[in-house]
Amino acid sequence: AASLIGGTVGFGTSAHAATTSPAADGLARKLSVIGTPVSRIDGRAKVTGEAKYAAEFQAPDLAYGSMVTSTIARGRIAAIDAAEALRVPGVLDVLTHANRPAMADRDEAYHDDAAPDGSPFRPLFDDRVLFNGQPVAVVLAEDIETARFAASLVKIEYAAETPATDLEAERSHAVVVEKPWKGRGDAASAFASAPVKLEAEYFIPMEHHNPMELYAATAVWESDGNLTVYDKTQGVQNVQRYLCGVFALEPEQVRVVAPYVGGAFGSGLRPQFEVVLAAQGALKLKRSVRVVLTRAQMYGLGYRPATIERLSLGAKHDGTLDAVTHEAIAMTSRFEQFSRHDTSWSGLLYKSATARYVHRLAALDLPTSCDMRAPGAATGVYALECAMDELAVALKMDPLELRLRCYSERDQNDDIPYTSKRLRECYHQAAQRFGWERRSAAPRSMRDGHELIGWGMASGIWEALQIKHTARITLAADGGAEVACATMDIGTGTYTVMAQVAAEMLGLPVERITVKLGDSSLPQAQIEGGSWGAASVSHAILRAATELRGALLTLAQATPNSPLAGLRAEETILADGRLVALQDPARAVATADLLHQAGLPTISKEAESGFEPDDRHAHNTHAAIFAEVRVDEELAIVRVTRVVSAVAAGRIINPKTAHSQIMGGIVWGIGMALHEETLIDHRFGRVMNANIAEYHIPAHADVRNIDAFFVDELDTVINPLGVKGVGEIGLVGVAAAIANAVYHATGKRIRDLPITLDKVL
Ligand code: MOS
Repeated sequence: AASLIGGTVGFGTSAHAATTSPAADGLARKLSVIGTPVSRIDGRAKVTGEAKYAAEFQAPDLAYGSMVTSTIARGRIAAIDAAEALRVPGVLDVLTHANRPAMADRDEAYHDDAAPDGSPFRPLFDDRVLFNGQPVAVVLAEDIETARFAASLVKIEYAAETPATDLEAERSHAVVVEKPWKGRGDAASAFASAPVKLEAEYFIPMEHHNPMELYAATAVWESDGNLTVYDKTQGVQNVQRYLCGVFALEPEQVRVVAPYVGGAFGSGLRPQFEVVLAAQGALKLKRSVRVVLTRAQMYGLGYRPATIERLSLGAKHDGTLDAVTHEAIAMTSRFEQFSRHDTSWSGLLYKSATARYVHRLAALDLPTSCDMRAPGAATGVYALECAMDELAVALKMDPLELRLRCYSERDQNDDIPYTSKRLRECYHQAAQRFGWERRSAAPRSMRDGHELIGWGMASGIWEALQIKHTARITLAADGGAEVACATMDIGTGTYTVMAQVAAEMLGLPVERITVKLGDSSLPQAQIEGGSWGAASVSHAILRAATELRGALLTLAQATPNSPLAGLRAEETILADGRLVALQDPARAVATADLLHQAGLPTISKEAESGFEPDDRHAHNTHAAIFAEVRVDEELAIVRVTRVVSAVAAGRIINPKTAHSQIMGGIVWGIGMALHEETLIDHRFGRVMNANIAEYHIPAHADVRNIDAFFVDELDTVINPLGVKGVGEIGLVGVAAAIANAVYHATGKRIRDLPITLDKVL
């Protein structure tokens, strides 16, 4: 149960995994809403345009900011000439490091809940240029067109230095990250004496998130001088604290709001520069300011670090693993040390007598790398699962059979049991649906006309994390209820699962629940990411509902001859607008009557999810992925024609939204395997394909038949609802299954992603 580099909230660590006591949480009921495929309660708002995003909130007298970004990757700003821009009618100001409002000096003021070690980037702070695409000025104008035109007139002179942005070229300078995860035994000697050996190096390129919604902030200057900031983010309270730190403001002076987020995938875990720039503009002009990044400017934000992964596997002829060594070299900026664990999944997923992990970081003249869906696992498990496939070939063993022989019943990194693990069931069910037993083992042995057919498989693993959230439930005399928490819905379905859990606990139909989230003034929540949202907020709702039930019982028992006299809260449930004795449904009181009698229009209770750190169990979700590719023999075009993915992730609160999460992960896996890569011109440290025409992602024609499903997994340890959370688990392993299928189709092992046709030819 190690802790990871950076941030009070960390990925890739079981430090935040925890269990809760199932007692007294009112789960005596049979679940009827949780576990059902309720359609998104925010769906109508989203498809009708009623849902507002950060760049859509209006304010009287709104001014617009347009960024000027650096064209060098390293050096200093020697001079800024904004005279021509300032002469354009409608231009209000040109903000630079020389004239921006006051900002904090100390590094700590810029730290946020997902910040790694180091000295966070400060927009428009001084004349230093740390990466290409860095904001160096913002033109403020009466309208966006004027701002953008005038931004093109700002002239900047630089004192440039030679940048280093090529991971491969800098790999020898990478330094070992102090790693909290431990290995076991002497992996080097065990490898040396292993009868069957596999050593291989894999490469995952830099990737950018490219969410549909552009990063944007509308900072509204209120009449009292306070700021209401509509920002695209995965954590409104995180951004609020950050803005307070940076501009020395009190929490009452800044409210951050993001009711809807059009995808983020980790890019919004940290406050991004658009929100600082909008706030700077508002503070400078004493007027509302909106800043929207262009698609190209979004490539100046964080990214998935390019990673070199080296695997050494030593095995006996029967497939028993004697040695696992996993070394990774990833990239970060020169000013912050971002890393997630890529390596230790390898000794966790499979039984191996020895294991060794080394993680190195290369500091480059780039923005700091950051979390992108399943950070560490998407890359590390890709390498591991390709290496396992290569080992299976060396052993002349079916790749699924090898996984089953190495199946790990315990977390060997910490030598503890799992709260639950039904990966074996995932393998069996997915293999059956896929028809894996019909696979002919030899590469190039399956074909259909001019197309080679390949079948590959891989495993997926992610963590089941839970963090502190507070939820407030307000029950009204008319029988409706509101559930509120400052958590986020980044498109994942949080609104809907919150409504479902509240409806379940209050015994109300989902339609009677109103959900409030994405507002810093709501009860406490941390950033949403890591697939911890559903489990965390559900437990807070469960507790708030329990408190509310207790308060209603107190009201009931205050009346003479109450039918509920003598009962304890855990002996009651809420159902159909009534508080009912569990053992005797005839003993009941209408909650509306209770509120009327007490003269209360509403009754409200707030509670915190209460997770105890749990070092005695491993908390993980698992998946088995099978993929079919068809490769045109002459043209080397690879098509992923079929993916079957079985996921074990505890209780699924909403099979519909959860299924969508897994589908999204699989599509992303197709992109990771075949399309995605950010390309840098290393002479200038500049991204060359900073647009979604040249940064390729799967289009509809790239996505064929996907069969994703959940394997039943009853978890009575992790939390009272047995919820593990889904999201990232949908991605982990998918690219490996596809890469392994490409090998099976062609006999060619391509270890560098993406598998483009030039590599296949
Ligand atoms: Mo998560 S890295 O916020 O998809």
